[in-house]
Amino acid sequence: MLSVADRAKTRIIAIANQKGGVGKTTTAINLSAALAEAGQRTLLIDLDPQGNASTGLGLEMGARKYTTYDLLFGDVPARNIVLETAQSGLWIVPATTDLSSADIELMSRARRSYLLQDALRQSDIQDLAFDYILIDCPPSLNLLTLNAMVAAQSVLVPLQAEFFALEGLSQLMLTVRELRETANAQLRIEGILLTMYDRRNNLAQQVEADARGNLGDLVFKTMIPRNVRLSEAPSYAVSVLSYDPMSKGAVAYRDLAGELLVKHNKMHSEGVVS
Ligand SMILES: Nc1ncnc2c1ncn2[C@@H]1O[C@H](COP(=O)(O)OP(=O)(O)O)[C@@H](O)[C@H]1O
Ligand SMILES: [Mg+2]
Repeated sequence: MLSVADRAKTRIIAIANQKGGVGKTTTAINLSAALAEAGQRTLLIDLDPQGNASTGLGLEMGARKYTTYDLLFGDVPARNIVLETAQSGLWIVPATTDLSSADIELMSRARRSYLLQDALRQSDIQDLAFDYILIDCPPSLNLLTLNAMVAAQSVLVPLQAEFFALEGLSQLMLTVRELRETANAQLRIEGILLTMYDRRNNLAQQVEADARGNLGDLVFKTMIPRNVRLSEAPSYAVSVLSYDPMSKGAVAYRDLAGELLVKHNKMHSEGVVS
């Protein structure tokens, strides 16, 4: 077993975009699954009251005894909240609609932006020695999303390759910049991920050109194609990697995991603290 010093520290990535329907949850589920498949101990935290990531990974309502709500507010030991999924190497903290009151409850708390950070620093989460923790954020820049961005080292932003895609991005970038100056000096953009990309569509190509032109290296090389397998997999309660391992969607999320791992290994060997 590696000593604490040898082990690269846990990378915590918030998957955020205040727009709904851009592929946050799909990315949270399938990137987590791809990282786990690549041998990384991975935890997915469902921070959206809709609980779509939990449903998509097969957590039935009855199995959601403790949830992200308890992680934030409760005194339940974290080891009782973190659940193993059917996929080896992949754990989840599920969500239910309980979480919809959290945003308002957080407002009256002194450490209202730090509750998730505090929770993830508990020793029984540290003991699980995750390589990656991915946080599926709600479609809003609310206090839940701020908690994710304070707890995380980076923000991964799915961007649907359609008209108006770049709209709203500047507000998200501004929030990240503000947090860097206040609550979380290490926060950076992990990358912008083009989702639901259709190569034959001129508009999608235009969005890609705009995004790469304006944002350069911030845009992941990997793009996620529009692929019906990705929208079907959640109803089978598994990631697309299990549902249809050779589908274009599965291949793309494996590529994305590979792109992240190469970048992070490089940063680790160069001793870049991030
Ligand atoms: N690459 C894709 N190809 C096809 N359908 C997709 C793709 N990504 C997401 N979807 C579908 O689009 C809808 C919105 O995606 P979702 O991941 O739930 O977005 P968000 O979490 O940002 O609201 C879902 O029905 C999902 O199955
Ligand atoms: Mg979602």
